[in-house]
Amino acid sequence: MKIAVMGYGTVGSGVVEIVEKRHTGTKRKPGDIEVKYILDIHDFPNDEFRHLLTKDVNDILNCDEIKIVVETMGGHKPAFDFVAAALKKGKSVVTSNKELVATSGAELLKLARENNANFLFEASVGGGIPLIRPLSQCLAANDILRIDGILNGTTNFIFTQMIDEGATFEDVLKEAQDLGYAEKDPTDDVEGIDAARKIAILASIAGGVHITADQVFTEGITKITQFDVETAGKLNCVIKLIATAKKCKNGKYVCLVTPALVSKNSLISNVNGVFNAVMVNGDSVGEIMLYGPGAGKLATASAVVADVLDCAKHMDVDRSEKWLANTPDAANDISGLICNAYVSGCGDINKATEVFGDVQTVVDGETYALVTKTPAPFTELKAKADLINAKIIRLI
Ligand code: HSE
Repeated sequence: MKIAVMGYGTVGSGVVEIVEKRHTGTKRKPGDIEVKYILDIHDFPNDEFRHLLTKDVNDILNCDEIKIVVETMGGHKPAFDFVAAALKKGKSVVTSNKELVATSGAELLKLARENNANFLFEASVGGGIPLIRPLSQCLAANDILRIDGILNGTTNFIFTQMIDEGATFEDVLKEAQDLGYAEKDPTDDVEGIDAARKIAILASIAGGVHITADQVFTEGITKITQFDVETAGKLNCVIKLIATAKKCKNGKYVCLVTPALVSKNSLISNVNGVFNAVMVNGDSVGEIMLYGPGAGKLATASAVVADVLDCAKHMDVDRSEKWLANTPDAANDISGLICNAYVSGCGDINKATEVFGDVQTVVDGETYALVTKTPAPFTELKAKADLINAKIIRLI
């Protein structure tokens, strides 16, 4: 079976490496997958697989031998056009591109169905962690009540290195970029956009309706200070960037990505470095946790190649998700999320206690910190914090 790989960056080169290792027999051979073309605009003059490189997507689209196309280019354009064109030619597409899936998932799934092809994206969320298939298949009997996850390896790596090694934000971000964890534009990582795309994909699988990243309330980690990290420690908590999808009474999900205080007694608090973890609460199974490397070349490529093998084994079988098209009200707004919160600010703590009512004071100083004791809608807590110019971090 001949495949093509579009995008020869971190993940794409990992895919070629895994497939070729298998092919040459240095590892167990699970099948006869072979890379026929690699599409990239760059030159790789010293690369072992340079003879497979092309800059013309038509070489792939017009090649009847190629039945499966891997898209590891990232970004929406031109990935969308290439993927759509491949599907229209009846080729199955496997992607690690969360922006593409979160933005155009329902449309591409429809296109795949219409052309008797598959569109699979296990690697788009949680890197190497088996996540999409377990949620979609192994937990299919469940009503998914809630998902909480650490879905961005870069920010989790940054938090861990800053806390454990006392490293600066800038230095750790540079290290994450060198290790191939960060997005081309690392703003997507630190501002929570990458995690928003991923929780949008998980919520779409849980609900069967396409939720887009702009329907996820999103805040990044840039406002978190050393004071917040230390104060969280006093509360026996750590701060993590948490992505949440919670099912509300009307059957729709409220989705958000924000920093959160996580109790050190929770399993997810021990998820460090580039690792990701997702806790899923299903009405029958209860709570499960899926854990593993959330980014990186071979870890992510492992999930891509698994999808390729799945396509290859089921050439005439529909293996793809079925999502209803996105609508403006596909997700609920964040008033559907009830929680307690950590509040910190400068000035008189009495003003803050007046606004928030029943609270636990954690630090009473030039910068104060408190936690609320009565759960309230997140929107309400945020509005109160805005009144006194304070920062708010939810507790999970
Ligand atoms: N930038 C992403 C992360 C890569 O750090 O998690 C994996 O999706």
